[in-house]
Amino acid sequence: MRAAAFTELTGPDGVNIVERPTPEPDPGEAVVDVEACSINRHDLWILDGDSAMVDPSDLPFVTGLDVAGVVSAVGDGVTDLEPGDRVLLCPNQTCGTCRFCREGPENLCESFSLYHGGLAESARVDADRLIPLPDDVDATTAATLPTAYLTAYHMLRRADVEAGDLLFVPGATGGVGVATVQLADVLGVRTVGTSSSASKLDRLAELGADHTVRGTDPDALRPAVADIGTPDAVVNHLGGPYTDLGLNLMRRGGRMVICGRTAGGTSEIDIPDLFLGHKHVVGSTMGTQADLERLVDLVAAGDLDPVVDQTFPLAATDEAFATMKDRESLGKLVVTMD
Ligand SMILES: NC(=O)c1ccc[n+]([C@@H]2O[C@H](COP(=O)([O-])OP(=O)(O)OC[C@H]3O[C@@H](n4cnc5c(N)ncnc54)[C@H](OP(=O)(O)O)[C@@H]3O)[C@@H](O)[C@H]2O)c1
Ligand SMILES: [Zn+2]
Repeated sequence: MRAAAFTELTGPDGVNIVERPTPEPDPGEAVVDVEACSINRHDLWILDGDSAMVDPSDLPFVTGLDVAGVVSAVGDGVTDLEPGDRVLLCPNQTCGTCRFCREGPENLCESFSLYHGGLAESARVDADRLIPLPDDVDATTAATLPTAYLTAYHMLRRADVEAGDLLFVPGATGGVGVATVQLADVLGVRTVGTSSSASKLDRLAELGADHTVRGTDPDALRPAVADIGTPDAVVNHLGGPYTDLGLNLMRRGGRMVICGRTAGGTSEIDIPDLFLGHKHVVGSTMGTQADLERLVDLVAAGDLDPVVDQTFPLAATDEAFATMKDRESLGKLVVTMD
């Protein structure tokens, strides 16, 4: 089978198609014929050599977390799946025995990690991480959900927002950003989204963003967002200077949930503003498999229509990463098998 592997950690030109043996399932596992796998900034960090997760001596490396496809084989002990079943993978990997695995939520698992390997024609996965896909949810749409939409869903819950609240979403046009705006819309939460691109913001408004502000300079964004209103909460996947910006803008007692560091892995914050304003800063990673099942249900019910900017054949996976790196897309980029 073919896989799109990272053969060098030098950016999109480090992606190459390699031949691999078709995997066989061990007990408790299933093999999925991949139909679609979306890419995430997480994969780009690895490809750019900006992630501690993959050492250059471990190459080639096949990433790909968000797998949707059809079961082709199951290992011993797997009784609730059979070849031909349409499925979506929850990429969470957990120990199953720690306090958080026992009591929940599972994404706090002390050994939490993520599945990688979906940018290939076949993927060998833990069978109990597969979610059945209803007939009316296609594989490309399903493949948008596991990382971006699941993370956004969990962040919105942790932000404790309710209908009528105002949510600030800096960088609202990528995978997590668009997912946040769309899910907030489902909840009746009003949003202010930012981007460097006027055309992407026009599209974002059509997708449900209540307010948009163009710009990347936090000092220029501050008065523009303040003119719109005082956010009750912030979903922050950018980090860097957007952290202090969001905290300053947010109301007293508000909550900022952080999941990423696209604009910087460290942030300087105004400590007196934090404590005098009784503000909360909350870290968040992924969500639970039960959350992902709810998202599949939302899509099946027609309440959520995830945004796919472009699809790419496996052989053009390098172009998908170049598109993400060049900030040309809105929503998700999905690799599909021919
Ligand atoms: N902890 C978790 O579980 C988890 C899960 C998912 C994602 N994440 C993290 O969340 C972040 C977003 O992931 P994603 O897959 O949604 O990424 P993405 O699709 O590439 O996000 C693109 C968005 O980020 C903005 N952006 C890109 N580079 C920027 C920069 N240098 N300064 C300011 N804005 C910038 C873009 O703005 P323009 O419109 O201006 O181009 C766009 O709105 C990443 O840091 C990722 O690692 C974490
Ligand atoms: Zn655990």
